Amino acid sequence: QIQAPFELVLFGGLGDLAQRKLLPAMYLLHRDERLPDEGLIYCTTRRSTSREAFLDIVRNAIRQHVPGDCVEESVWQSFTERLQLVELDLSDEVHYQALRKVLSKDDVNRVFYLATGSDLYTSICRGLHNSQLIQSQSKVVLEKPIGHDYPSATTINAAVAEFFKESQIYRIDHYLGKETVQNLLVLRFANSLFESQWNQKYIDHIQITISESLGVEKRAGFYDHVGAMRDMFQNHLLQLLCITAMEPPSRLESDAVRDEKVKVLRALKPIIGGAITEKVVRGQYDAGVSDSKPVPRYRDEPGVEPKSMTETFVAAKVEIDNWRWAGVPFYLRTGKRLAERACEIVVHFKEIPHSIFPLQHKNTMANKLVFRLQPDEGVRLMLCEKRVGPGMSVRPMNLSLNPANHKQTRVPEAYERLLFDVLTSNSTLFLRDDELLEAWRWVDPILQSWEESEQRPEPYTSGTWGPAAATLLLAKDGRLWDENS
Ligand code: BG6
Repeated sequence: QIQAPFELVLFGGLGDLAQRKLLPAMYLLHRDERLPDEGLIYCTTRRSTSREAFLDIVRNAIRQHVPGDCVEESVWQSFTERLQLVELDLSDEVHYQALRKVLSKDDVNRVFYLATGSDLYTSICRGLHNSQLIQSQSKVVLEKPIGHDYPSATTINAAVAEFFKESQIYRIDHYLGKETVQNLLVLRFANSLFESQWNQKYIDHIQITISESLGVEKRAGFYDHVGAMRDMFQNHLLQLLCITAMEPPSRLESDAVRDEKVKVLRALKPIIGGAITEKVVRGQYDAGVSDSKPVPRYRDEPGVEPKSMTETFVAAKVEIDNWRWAGVPFYLRTGKRLAERACEIVVHFKEIPHSIFPLQHKNTMANKLVFRLQPDEGVRLMLCEKRVGPGMSVRPMNLSLNPANHKQTRVPEAYERLLFDVLTSNSTLFLRDDELLEAWRWVDPILQSWEESEQRPEPYTSGTWGPAAATLLLAKDGRLWDENS
């Protein structure tokens, strides 16, 4: 239950994230009657905008980004009563006073959501503090990427900590809000079947892929300074790795879960020096065909530097130096303009030691457990069965668990789940300060070596699965990426 009244203040309130994810998620929570009657959403923006124009922007955003829904007039009308626009220049302290005038004087369930660049986090928090807007129940949500390396993330963590206690800080990674990620926790820790096999004795290797068919879209101004390592790998991919690899927490409580995740990050084998070129591949998309349309190369996208060295693809072989995972590689990859939009965690079990059946083709006997996060969510266990008919030949078969098959209505959006969690003060699916820093500590040497290198990221044709070096990364170990598995 969300404590009423609540006040959600969105900094960057009409920005890309607010329009694509945050406002649609709040609309869905409102539509499903999960918000208390008393609760307001303040969208801050620098642009001078009339209320009418503001509501038009929000309505279009919801129409475009609420999946499979047409905006119902009565629901929309009641939602508009929650929406407030606040004109605010984030760099000007006088404006925070304006916010003070509209927010409640009481210590209510107040959330400041910073959907801006992380270089602004310190000054926003200071502005809020100086205007006495932070109270004991207030919370702050920080979007990723927080900082651009270990030192900058340390500085931001320390600055935010001057104004908020750690328990008030919610570092969001929306991949943790995806239904299948939570299902992974349940499958791992509510079934003895999997947990007993979840180690180097039975698992050969694990692949985690987040592929996008979209290019940089209208975000070149942000993306060209950030790149795939900071945008996707340092956060989303490493978080999926942590959830897959962590030890069972003693309780489903935020610190118990975060303690286990941070142990995984601390156990990651550093990739430094010569190992960087051996174990990490970076690529940049060239022109090609994506979703049946011709698309330009990254360097020709509007807003991208013509000689940009920014990577739009990263693949890496990651190892975890601990008892459970010694010798089990985790192959991680992410990229834009790849063959399709998909996100999967694929656990490859070892082959049986000896087969008594005639095999149809190699690998038939290796079981796979596939967690698919998108576009369709579900879990598949690939087993072997007898081919019907004479003889004893074996063929692979799938046991599927698809949440859409359950009678329950729909799978909630990640941001819906996470905004609800913030409003109910549940921080289990958010990152703690040490987790964030450990992730940066591990990726920093790779980023640094790229910055010092004159070699441009390896080009790959849009609409393919990335550069040839990524295929080679697994081929060297006698393995293949799972493509549309
Ligand atoms: C964001 C990245 O965190 O995740 C984007 O900044 C990316 O570049 C997006 O497109 C992907 O999220 P999803 O949920 O659509 O897979």
